[in-house]
Amino acid sequence: MTEELNHGQTPAIHGSRIDAYVDRYAARATGMVASEIRALFAVASRPEVVSLAGGMPYVTALPLDMVGELVSDLVTRRGPVALQYGSGQGDPHLREQICEVMRLEGINAGADDVVVTVGSQQALDLITRIFIDPGDVVLAEGPSYVGALGTFAAYEAKVVHIAMDDQGIVPESLAQTIYALETAGAPIKFLYTIPTFHNPGGVTLNVARRQQVLDICQRAGVLIVEDNPYGLLGFDGEPMRALRADNPDGVVYLGSFSKTLAPGFRVGWALAPHAIRDKLVLAMESAVLSHSSFTQLAVGQYLATQPWREQIKSFRELYRERRDALLDALEGLMPPEVTWTRPAGGFFVWASLPEGLDSKAILPRAVAERVAFVPGTGFFTDGSGARNMRLSYCYPEPDRIREGVRRLAGVIEQEIQLRDTFGTGSTRGHAGVETPGPDLA
Ligand SMILES: Cc1ncc(COP(=O)(O)O)c(C=O)c1O
Repeated sequence: MTEELNHGQTPAIHGSRIDAYVDRYAARATGMVASEIRALFAVASRPEVVSLAGGMPYVTALPLDMVGELVSDLVTRRGPVALQYGSGQGDPHLREQICEVMRLEGINAGADDVVVTVGSQQALDLITRIFIDPGDVVLAEGPSYVGALGTFAAYEAKVVHIAMDDQGIVPESLAQTIYALETAGAPIKFLYTIPTFHNPGGVTLNVARRQQVLDICQRAGVLIVEDNPYGLLGFDGEPMRALRADNPDGVVYLGSFSKTLAPGFRVGWALAPHAIRDKLVLAMESAVLSHSSFTQLAVGQYLATQPWREQIKSFRELYRERRDALLDALEGLMPPEVTWTRPAGGFFVWASLPEGLDSKAILPRAVAERVAFVPGTGFFTDGSGARNMRLSYCYPEPDRIREGVRRLAGVIEQEIQLRDTFGTGSTRGHAGVETPGPDLA
């Protein structure tokens, strides 16, 4: 029957697990591969495992009754608008409110330059879609956000990593890399950077370097894409001034309500210079026609009626306590050769293992000991990161964090003993992008 209908053209599938279309995908789909560590994370999500892997915000801390009432009220009172298609650029009132949020980071912008997107992840996709031809260069910190690397791979960009230390991107490395690429005639489309409370690095670009990075990029004509979902989740003092605040024409700023409210609304945004904004709106329309009016209005209603600054403050306190629990536990329990960053905000600590240890090889043993982390190689496109791991403190409660570190420290100690007995194993990773899945983003 299938043969008849297809005139023998299409291979029959009949529930086979072999991909009958394997030779028909676009070249760009070749780079889309599920990480081999995904299966392990299915095990790691069991309740007995302490997961220091996931990047999920602790939405349980929200007043959920209030959210429920707000959503129900929205449907009852504004159903015909909330359940209708909206504009490609996003709800005008929400865009005004977004400008108010961005003012906390020194950004002075008009609603006309904001495009509301399905999380900042979609903003990343759209910006890549409008700028990247296969082979074009994107500069990104090494390590960088795994979801961005996945998007860049999907559009066949060539990612060139810029060195980062505990003060953020290293300006000399940026300048040298731009010079080398220019000399080689390789077109750089943009610098993708997470200057504040980096994922996965847990570090923040210091004030002096912010100006240097802006100057270097401006001189070289390199657009900056500033990804800033964690900027308002600092543990001390006032929010950092965004890069965009000091160069409206040279920076596309990406923001999100995923970490300051809830990722389930999927509301993020891009703030871009006019011409880029126009392209983004067209790309948005071709991707999804318009964002969900319902969730945009829900977020707008939340901002208009609830003490959202207070909510952010309480998230900051909650994450600060968890950060402290993680840092104290690492200090007290980790073997002395292990080092790590000390985040002043956000969700993540980036740890470095001693020579001869490989975090990906350690992961199955860690999961067997009921603790999980994300191995470092997924955050690079060049195979680096074998001795690194990302530890997140956003989701588990402080006692669980301490218990997780106790288990992990035991596993690492054993690994060090094995190394000392049998010598080093391979610590080289494989180049390529691994996407461990949204809950680990
Ligand atoms: C650095 C960074 N950018 C972007 C995103 C995407 O967030 P969302 O699409 O939920 O706004 C994340 C999520 O973890 C992230 O860490």
